[in-house]
Amino acid sequence: MIEQEYLWWQKEILYQIYPRSFKDSNDDGIGDLPGILQKLDYLQELGIKGVWISPFYPSPMADFGYDVSDYIGVHPMFGTIEDFDNLLKEIHNRDMKLILDFVPNHTSNEHPWFQESIKSRDDPKREWYIWKDPGPDGGPPNNWGAAFGGSGWEYDDSTGQYYYHAFLKEQPDLNWRNPEVQEAMFNAMRFWLDKGVDGFRVDVMWHMIKDDQFRDNPINPDYTEDKSPYDKYIQAYNTDQPEVHEIVKKMRNVMDEYDERVMIGEIYLPIDKLVTYYGEDNEGTHLPFNFLLVVLPWDARKIEAAVNEYEGSLPPDGWPNWVLGNHDNSRMATRVGKEQARIAAMLLLTLRGTPTMYYGDEIGMEDVEISADEVMDPQEKNIPGKGLGRDPERTPMQWDDSPNAGFSSAKPWLPIMENYQKINVANELENDNSTLNFYKKLIKLRNNEPALQVGNFIPVPSEENMFSFIREYAGKKFLIALNFGSSEEKCEPGLKDWKGKVKLATHPQKQGEEIKNLVYLGPHQGVILEIIDNQ
Ligand code: NOJ
Repeated sequence: MIEQEYLWWQKEILYQIYPRSFKDSNDDGIGDLPGILQKLDYLQELGIKGVWISPFYPSPMADFGYDVSDYIGVHPMFGTIEDFDNLLKEIHNRDMKLILDFVPNHTSNEHPWFQESIKSRDDPKREWYIWKDPGPDGGPPNNWGAAFGGSGWEYDDSTGQYYYHAFLKEQPDLNWRNPEVQEAMFNAMRFWLDKGVDGFRVDVMWHMIKDDQFRDNPINPDYTEDKSPYDKYIQAYNTDQPEVHEIVKKMRNVMDEYDERVMIGEIYLPIDKLVTYYGEDNEGTHLPFNFLLVVLPWDARKIEAAVNEYEGSLPPDGWPNWVLGNHDNSRMATRVGKEQARIAAMLLLTLRGTPTMYYGDEIGMEDVEISADEVMDPQEKNIPGKGLGRDPERTPMQWDDSPNAGFSSAKPWLPIMENYQKINVANELENDNSTLNFYKKLIKLRNNEPALQVGNFIPVPSEENMFSFIREYAGKKFLIALNFGSSEEKCEPGLKDWKGKVKLATHPQKQGEEIKNLVYLGPHQGVILEIIDNQ
């Protein structure tokens, strides 16, 4: 029993669905909301609680839904608002929660607000976006770039001004300094919250306010040609501005008009800056997404140092969280290597804090190679050949060994991984040693053990490729020992005369084993031990 009150989003596991790729119910090769509905039992049996669905709003799909043209609707490709209502009801019937993706930094250029804004300099919606006169040389107002290549400024001939877009030119940035924009967006949030949605994942939260003097960004001295041209400059004046925290706080106030809703901010910043998004007195975002496990090299010492730095930097009452993969980064199994995939899963689900899983990681999906004529992602199209494309991690979920992996009976919008006949849900459910069954056991253990859900994090001295730590709650202790390397390693947790029992191991032969004082782990092995005797 957990004594103190913890909220659902602190205890439970979140799972991201990229709706185009989860399950297609109407055979157009693109996933949809009724498709997700068909798979709710699967998610429930997996043991996850919160389902986060990437955008399904009306959109011209220049950035596959992150260019929203109506914040309070459903794109017909994904279904209808009735389909949404039904999905939400069924999620709640299963005692699960639904988190939507909210994209406040920019709209689509086809959003009616922008269509008005671009009409004339004195249009009432002009100030809803960021319009500036050309610079002294007639070019863009400053050197701010767009994350998807080229200048961040697009010239509009008819009104003779530039508008700013942090991503594609089809994604003009909203002017969040304008109270009218704030109110319109808060009302969009309320529309979904009134329906009973349990929270939002907020897209690029650290981008929402830009420098009011529009100063040039400084040159990045560490830039190398293999990186995106966007990285030529340090994003000092177009992101992470001090005033963003006032906006985040106002968004939080909207969330607080309702019970137990969660706001998660997508923020790629170093730890010291990331934690400021919890806000003063914890009035910011509940969970600033922590991408350390995604961006760091897969190295036991580096990860251990980052975990400790993160733990040490959290503000009082700031609840931690961890992410291993998403629709913008190479899949975990590809990044860390197949042999390490179970270690990564164990780490994600045993560190202190809310874990977010990415669809398909639980069956061991890997990046799929995309040929030049199959590329969909605008980032790859605009900045080709640098490995920035995000299609490889967005391919359809593999449900069974039928054609198109049971995702759709039509040709899917992105290719299916070649080995889908082996790596799929149906097949893995049959095999006790599959990745999927490993995840199920891991999730079950976590869900049944308060120490793993909410217990303290106690660092344990480790060396070489070993990373270990203890989780403890109400006197019950678990030692997690993970071998990040390809040779045998040992873990001496610094406890006196202790005995432990293996509750879960990456390698089934270790299951149930009793261990005394010293843990030896073979290459790529990991264990969760319950410490049963310790002086
Ligand atoms: C972050 C999202 O995760 C990404 O997929 C999108 O392209 C950009 N924001 C722009 O909205």
